[in-house]
Amino acid sequence: MRILHVAAEIFPLVKTGGLADIIAALPNAQAQRGSDVRVLLPGFRGIMAGVTDLVPVAQIGPVFGAATAQLLTGCLPGSELTAYVIDAPFLYDREGNPYVGPDRRDWKDNHRRFGLLGWAAAHIAFGELDAEWQPDIVHAHDWHAGLASAYIRQHPSLKTPTVFTVHNLAFRGIFPMECYGELGLSTEFLTPSGLEFYGSFSFMKAGLVYSDKITTVSPTYAKEIQTPEFGCGLDGVLTERADDLSGILNGVDYDIWTPQDTKIAHTYTANNQNGKKLCKRALQRDFGLQRDGDSPLFAVVSRLAGQKGMDLIIDALPELLDGGGQLVVLGTGEAEIEARFFHASQAYPGRVAVRIGYDEALSHHIMAGADLLLVPSRFEPCGLTQLYALRYGTLPVVHRVGGLSDTVVDTTRETIASARATGFVFDRPDKAALGSRIRDACALYRNDKVGWRKIRRRAMLQDFSWNDSAAHYEVLYRNLL
Ligand code: ADP
Ligand code: GLC
Repeated sequence: MRILHVAAEIFPLVKTGGLADIIAALPNAQAQRGSDVRVLLPGFRGIMAGVTDLVPVAQIGPVFGAATAQLLTGCLPGSELTAYVIDAPFLYDREGNPYVGPDRRDWKDNHRRFGLLGWAAAHIAFGELDAEWQPDIVHAHDWHAGLASAYIRQHPSLKTPTVFTVHNLAFRGIFPMECYGELGLSTEFLTPSGLEFYGSFSFMKAGLVYSDKITTVSPTYAKEIQTPEFGCGLDGVLTERADDLSGILNGVDYDIWTPQDTKIAHTYTANNQNGKKLCKRALQRDFGLQRDGDSPLFAVVSRLAGQKGMDLIIDALPELLDGGGQLVVLGTGEAEIEARFFHASQAYPGRVAVRIGYDEALSHHIMAGADLLLVPSRFEPCGLTQLYALRYGTLPVVHRVGGLSDTVVDTTRETIASARATGFVFDRPDKAALGSRIRDACALYRNDKVGWRKIRRRAMLQDFSWNDSAAHYEVLYRNLL
């Protein structure tokens, strides 16, 4: 089976969140299962610098406002996989991240920058750009790649089946109508049952309407997005397409996320957890926290955004401190949340430490050294950090929503007795519910060391590797072919 993934991020070259981890891992897992997999990426700086052995396969410019554009192929670092890269410097060679400039504002020409991504996918599928390779399936990810399915649908003889995965419905890729004329798409699509969205148009909606199958990244989120509460105004479309919508849980690359990683302070395993104590000590030292082995150390590794419920953590800080806990935060995002965390670190030196920024290596040290990871998201399509935390025996404290509720088993009398508990789950995204679960976690940590070790061992043995998820995608593809 020849599969073309279409996406805007890939770890470690360009990453703003979990999407990058998935685009690095899923194609590899599929290749290991015998598929012929390629990835199509925009030629952002990180991609141009990191994909190796780039050679041109086709001239495609001038197009979408770029005077020169060409399609290149190269090799993804650390794997055998081929990447197609759209080299269009006028559109992609910029400071900032894929979506926003250094001033944190959306690029004004994002419709063209990501329109080109979908357009190139369709033309690769049609066989116009690379005579030697044509996909059997086009698998597009998030709004950035949402137009791929529309471009494919608009060509009368192009029958390549399409799968569209929603990683986060909150980012809908909405643009004003006047941009539409620049995309070369039929005006027939501009209806409420097409990609029109309340007088504008949406790349995400295009993916939802014109793809043959829709998936999202956990079974619970697949149900939630069909409701007004989580549907971001697209619940109607999703309900109509319910028969073609399914949830396939993300996997974890356990070669990257492992407590046997020699770059953390000390390695450890589920059966010999002693190294974790040393990781904790090192983390406390590096962050200037009191060297107290008995103090439960809570961590945050996250985008500091409303979605992630970070404000709730600051509101529940008194409970955490009353329980004898410490907090370490690594994150970047909304200025107000950054400032509130910073103030907390000033108010409680030695108990609360905050690093504003994005630091991949440090995120591994924190996962290894902390006792608990806080993930109080208001919504969470899948969530990867709680999965990483489990592998490091860092018990997740999560809101019962989306992928968090599919992956963490709450610690209760019943789940302890049945040997299933792996973390702490609370039911409402408010400070009282989070605070009370934090209190319970602190009490258990202090009063039942043996019980804690057992839960930690079980957490570490959870298996969210890619094999199952890759098998689910395979079934989905086969049904389409
Ligand atoms: P989302 O994609 O919504 O941000 P996920 O949990 O799926 O949430 O993925 C987040 C990814 O980004 C994880 O790999 C996490 O480790 C990483 N991450 C988030 N914030 C930071 C940070 N400040 N420094 C390093 N890694 C981070
Ligand atoms: C999105 C979601 C996150 C998910 C990730 C990868 O960024 O917010 O929950 O884990 O995509 O699918």
